[in-house]
Amino acid sequence: MSARPRILVFGAGGRLGAALARAYDAEACVQSCGRAEADLADPAAIARLVRAARPDVVINCAAVTNVDLCQTERELARAVNAESPRQMARACTETGARLVHISTDYVFSGEARTPYAEDSVAAPLSWYGCTKLEGEEAVLEAGARHAVVRVSWVFGPDRDSFVDKALQAALRGEPVRAVADKWSSPTYTLDAADALRVFFADAAPGGVYHLCNRGVCTWREWAQAGIDAALAAGLHVATTAVEPLRLADLTAMVAPRPVYSAMSCGKLESLLGRPLRPWSEAVDDHVKRQAQAGQLVTG
Ligand SMILES: NC(=O)c1ccc[n+]([C@@H]2O[C@H](COP(=O)([O-])OP(=O)(O)OC[C@H]3O[C@@H](n4cnc5c(N)ncnc54)[C@H](OP(=O)(O)O)[C@@H]3O)[C@@H](O)[C@H]2O)c1
Repeated sequence: MSARPRILVFGAGGRLGAALARAYDAEACVQSCGRAEADLADPAAIARLVRAARPDVVINCAAVTNVDLCQTERELARAVNAESPRQMARACTETGARLVHISTDYVFSGEARTPYAEDSVAAPLSWYGCTKLEGEEAVLEAGARHAVVRVSWVFGPDRDSFVDKALQAALRGEPVRAVADKWSSPTYTLDAADALRVFFADAAPGGVYHLCNRGVCTWREWAQAGIDAALAAGLHVATTAVEPLRLADLTAMVAPRPVYSAMSCGKLESLLGRPLRPWSEAVDDHVKRQAQAGQLVTG
């Protein structure tokens, strides 16, 4: 690989993809690919795009991420979440590039009560999870250098996540309620960008990896951490406590979700030679940066 790797990012307009494209821009030749460049509902165009870009690394952050929409728009979900990564992986194998394919904690059933390991059995509950798992399998089948990297509860500056929406409501003085009986591990996009650099090295092994911040929390604890971070940053937050909800209270949800989907990241941490930072520190950092950027307006 050249000193300045050529990196092609699919889903570059999304929450994770935008953060990665920005993070690597100074050190790599980054080609950002969004829906305008390639509609992944039509996976046939992908090989042409990969061949033309001649990348060293392709990072696929594109997906239909609306879990409820996937439950009804089954063909679309399968085309984008399973067939597109299959085509990307084949094109990468053919051109000698490595594919880093982003996947999800929703490949797990949620029956565990300790963090899922990289080799834990996947048994998705939703069509979103099924299509993401099919995408994983297709990528791994296409070449041993390709990496499947599962993330969970993604948050960062490029698109609002649950924690941002909860904090914005708290700043406006609205009541904030969040589920207190569903657990996972948030993933900060800035930390993910740092960690994923490890796959730019030719020698990095492929396979399945987990990438999230350390520790386990509920949606309620995640939202509360956002509010606490804003208070610590000196913002006036009108609603200071998040009220608990039960998952069963969210009757509008169409697709079943895993109750517990925290993941252990030991394999990636070994490769990195360092631990990933705890989720609460990552939330503090995110809120501080958002406040400094003037993104948090008190009501
Ligand atoms: N968000 C989470 O909490 C979460 C949790 C676990 C795993 N993940 C995984 O993490 C990855 C990144 O997710 P994210 O949070 O960055 O999601 P996101 O903000 O929804 O980004 C997904 C991107 O995919 C693009 N996309 C969707 N359909 C497309 C199509 N037909 N053609 C081309 N592009 C299309 C979207 O384009 P538009 O912007 O034009 O819609 C968007 O840029 C995904 O693989 C997701 O499965 C996310």
